[in-house]
Amino acid sequence: MAGSSSRAMMLAATLALAIATPATADVARPQDAQTLLTHFKCYICHADRETKAGPAFVDVAATFRRTPNAVSVIAREIRRGLRRGGPWHMPPHPEVSQAQARTIARYIMSLQR
Ligand code: HEC
Repeated sequence: MAGSSSRAMMLAATLALAIATPATADVARPQDAQTLLTHFKCYICHADRETKAGPAFVDVAATFRRTPNAVSVIAREIRRGLRRGGPWHMPPHPEVSQAQARTIARYIMSLQR
């Protein structure tokens, strides 16, 4: 009795998950990007809404709001790093794949103040 109802719950959960998962890999879910940002230790120097050693991602999004190919530019900077002469620089991250960098860049651009 209890067994069959928990099986039904499992099935419902699995179905819900299948529906919630986007069909195309290009549709980045915020939690995917945050997993990458944690995995690649970006959050040591960055936060979504706070300036640390690096700029807050929400400020990066504001800066790039009018840049037509913002996602490509940001993805390239993530992989190559950035040194604009401040006290800190952004180290290159060649270990981040192009697709992962774009997922992160899309997430950054989705942030609103
Ligand atoms: C060691 C500290 C550090 C780490 C780790 C780090 N960053 Fe940065 N990041 C910086 C600093 C400092 C800047 C600003 C560099 C400058 O303006 O010269 C920056 C800038 C940026 C920018 C803004 C680029 C722009 O044009 O304004 C983005 C986006 C960014 N980082 C993303 C990331 C991501 C994604 C990761 C993880 C893969 C990461 N950072 C890891 C320090 C870091």
